[in-house]
Amino acid sequence: RGEPVQDTARVLSRYLDGIMIRTFEQKEVEDLAEYGSIPIINGLTDFCHPCQILADLMTIRAVKSSFDGLKVCFIGDGNNMANSLIVGCLKVGMSFHIACPEGYRPDPQVLEFAKAYGKPLEAAQDADVVITDVWASMGQEGEAEKRKQAFAGYQINDAVMAAAHADAMVLHCLPAHREEEITEKVFEAHADEIFEEAENRLHAQKAVMVKLMEQ
Ligand code: NVA
Repeated sequence: RGEPVQDTARVLSRYLDGIMIRTFEQKEVEDLAEYGSIPIINGLTDFCHPCQILADLMTIRAVKSSFDGLKVCFIGDGNNMANSLIVGCLKVGMSFHIACPEGYRPDPQVLEFAKAYGKPLEAAQDADVVITDVWASMGQEGEAEKRKQAFAGYQINDAVMAAAHADAMVLHCLPAHREEEITEKVFEAHADEIFEEAENRLHAQKAVMVKLMEQ
């Protein structure tokens, strides 16, 4: 209701065991964490989407058995999903490749982080895991038309899947816009993996709460 987030943090810290916040500005989450005295879980910001990525990593490991030697490719908007996937996939030892249009690259801070891993950011050839996300994220609805044009050619379709490994899996954090970032055909062919990823949001986030709040 307009009070500073620093105050909300201190009030809610007296009522609750933890907060998951889904918002736009990353700073809002960081202020909540700085002023609050309980675990603050980032449920999504414009900058990153770490909880979703825990579920994605869990799904990749379940389907592919291990992370060893895997190459992940992300095609689409260099948004919160892309930023967190780069960090998460590199941290668990996979290589990461991304294709996105000029002007829609991942955050420079994240690219700087990726450099330390010494892996080039390329795209789909021989990928084991192919990932995309919506072209207009929450709060960007007004840019949908402009973005549709910018991302034309960045769709996960049969041609992209033909470049990837024959047994490549596909992930999408949902909601999916069929025939925009992913074709209906590719989506349905990989629906088991995509909905396992959706289920893993529940399990991965239970694990986050256990880790942060276990007494
Ligand atoms: N990039 C998307 C992720 C939705 C789960 C958004 O921020 O809307």
